[in-house]
Amino acid sequence: MKVAEIGTGTGMWLLDLASQLPESVQLDGFDLSEEQFPARYIWPANVTFDKLDAFGDVPDHLANKYDVVHLRFWCCIVRNNDPTRLIRHAAGLLKPGGYLQWEDANTGKTVVRGEIAEEFAKVVRSTFSAEELYFE
Ligand SMILES: C[S@@+](CC[C@H](N)C(=O)[O-])C[C@H]1O[C@@H](n2cnc3c(N)ncnc32)[C@H](O)[C@@H]1O
Repeated sequence: MKVAEIGTGTGMWLLDLASQLPESVQLDGFDLSEEQFPARYIWPANVTFDKLDAFGDVPDHLANKYDVVHLRFWCCIVRNNDPTRLIRHAAGLLKPGGYLQWEDANTGKTVVRGEIAEEFAKVVRSTFSAEELYFE
């Protein structure tokens, strides 16, 4: 099985996944910049990180290679409310019948439920002034 994450940043999602899956699963993280990649000496044997523009063409050696493509927190990056090129890129990495998993934030409407969430909400408030929080 092969999993790719595009816009992987620090690679924390992939590294967490690596700790829960067998080493036979190949996990590849891609990002426009390698600045946030974890230090190479902590990469598990089945994890790699590489530079790749998620709005560009998929190189031939990566085309249709992945069972799962994961994206997270692209809401601040997609311009003009048009994710077409990003979706085309993600689909180009996927094998036919593969899965696209996309997690994102509903910015502008964040629901806060429970004590721990309320503590976190205080931090969010001081960091993102435009964020509206709805306490339940
Ligand atoms: C908000 S961070 C999310 C990081 C990671 N997905 C996570 O959830 O921890 C967005 C990431 O997208 C990357 N990015 C922005 N534009 C990109 C592009 N055109 N191609 C690939 N990665 C890009 C940024 O460098 C950054 O690491």
